[in-house]
Amino acid sequence: SDLWLVVPAAGIGQRMKAECPKQYLKISDRFILDITLSRLLDNAPFKGCMVPLNSRDQWWPDSESANDDRIQTCTGGNERADSVLSALHALDGQADDNDWVLVHDAARPCLHPHDLSNLIDTLFEHPVGGLLAAPVADTLKLAGRGAEPEVEETVDRSQLWRALTPQMFRFGALKSALELCLKSGHGVTDESSAMEFSGNMPLLVEGRADNLKITVPSDLGLAEFILSRQ
Ligand code: C5P
Repeated sequence: SDLWLVVPAAGIGQRMKAECPKQYLKISDRFILDITLSRLLDNAPFKGCMVPLNSRDQWWPDSESANDDRIQTCTGGNERADSVLSALHALDGQADDNDWVLVHDAARPCLHPHDLSNLIDTLFEHPVGGLLAAPVADTLKLAGRGAEPEVEETVDRSQLWRALTPQMFRFGALKSALELCLKSGHGVTDESSAMEFSGNMPLLVEGRADNLKITVPSDLGLAEFILSRQ
């Protein structure tokens, strides 16, 4: 089976408070989206790549990726799941149901090539697929529902992982899972949640904790540092 890549980049990055979406902020004079896409495409044998963009995107034409003939674009949706599903629909007819699709956040430029190959090698014969994830390092507190955030209890972290990307699933199964979530109004923030909702048990593949998702302004300097050390 072939490998396909979907990099959702249709978000508007509200939490960054920047004048453009976070995937178009620059690190060492390159768009974050360009760093992310070249890392992925240069380090695994993808058959094709689909990037859902916001319908009001005005930065893509200025990206390096716009001139990369390995990359196709489509229009994303209101939620991340809508954007991913629109990319899968755009790949219909090119990809087979049994092919693998990797979904990776545009805002995660620090993915280490070793984690990418390890994810693919680990899951290639797996019946369901899975995701990169990192064990939780901090002690976790559950807050009560009162006005002030008071600790209700300390949560056992021994079984808790942070979900990272890429997440890797069979093309047909992921498409059906996302369609089911949208139809039944079950909100999901990653692909694994959609697969779980459809009754699957994705495999957690341990990845590096520094595969950070750029979310707030201070993440930019951190990502630059991580990239300079890899
Ligand atoms: O907002 P968040 O950090 O969860 O976004 C994760 C990724 O999903 C980002 O790369 C963002 O561009 C993408 N996204 C999308 N379509 C949306 C919302 C987010 O492609 N409607």
